[in-house]
Amino acid sequence: MRHLLEIDDLGADELRTILDLSERADLPRVLDGQGAMLLFEKPSARTRTSMEMAVVQLGGHPVTLRNEEVGIDRRESAEDLGRLLSGYGAVIGARVFEHHKVERLAAAASVPVVNLLSDEAHPVQALADLLTVRQEFGTLDGVVITYVGDANNVARSLGVACGLMGLEFRVSNPPGYDFDAASLDRLRNAGCEVVLEPDPVLAVKGADVVYTDAWYSMGQEEEQAVRTAAFADWRVDEALMAQASDRAIFLHCLPAHRGDEATDAVLDGPSSRIWPQAYNRMHTKRGLLAWLLDERLR
Ligand code: CP
Ligand code: NVA
Repeated sequence: MRHLLEIDDLGADELRTILDLSERADLPRVLDGQGAMLLFEKPSARTRTSMEMAVVQLGGHPVTLRNEEVGIDRRESAEDLGRLLSGYGAVIGARVFEHHKVERLAAAASVPVVNLLSDEAHPVQALADLLTVRQEFGTLDGVVITYVGDANNVARSLGVACGLMGLEFRVSNPPGYDFDAASLDRLRNAGCEVVLEPDPVLAVKGADVVYTDAWYSMGQEEEQAVRTAAFADWRVDEALMAQASDRAIFLHCLPAHRGDEATDAVLDGPSSRIWPQAYNRMHTKRGLLAWLLDERLR
């Protein structure tokens, strides 16, 4: 049995297989007549809907529970929820604040557990990001990705994924919003020689993908004013995009705070691939679930 708590729970070949499965139209109905138990401690538009649709497409039934109904570690421990939900569903998904909650769910569960975003990682986002890049360039080989903004959960999983697949990964963030030591270790252990370049113009020079995310994540809303001031020079606008390679595309995990981390002209411009990227959330979840639930596909 396998879990996906961070993208390096997969090896490079396994990751490639999941991307391939994500593009297949003939996947077996691995969830036929079965349930997927989905817990959300935080809001979600893309992750919840794309997961529910992927479950339906594989013949299953999604059961989504919000935090006020479940209360991980408040009403019931993560361990007891892992044991309980393993009896109802063939897979568990969870979006949590503290990463240890998905680890503890997984340790107690007897079915695969998928991290649907934690404070540390967003591996199901990284799957869609890689597929979008591969579809754009026909390959991942030689692609350079620059992430501009907060060195957060999305950035970490993207960087780890780049390490596994051999892409060059650069990060540009204001002082004080860097990766912590544990995240840097995680990137390097995955083979990512991350390039840390504080100047966004230098970081984006010649990049094939310019990627950004919110300046303040879910749970950091009270830091909005401080962060908005700190990140002002890290906004992705047309001038910054012009520094990238001629073939460069723009990605954003969404939701976007339009005018903050990226301008409308970039989000809606010719280089933007934010909608294919968002739609790939569903396709890659289908590929992932098929891979997790049917050993013959591995
Ligand atoms: N990108 C992403 O995970 O979006 P949601 O928070 O809407 O699920
Ligand atoms: N970094 C953001 C991603 C949202 C999909 C957050 O954690 O809120």
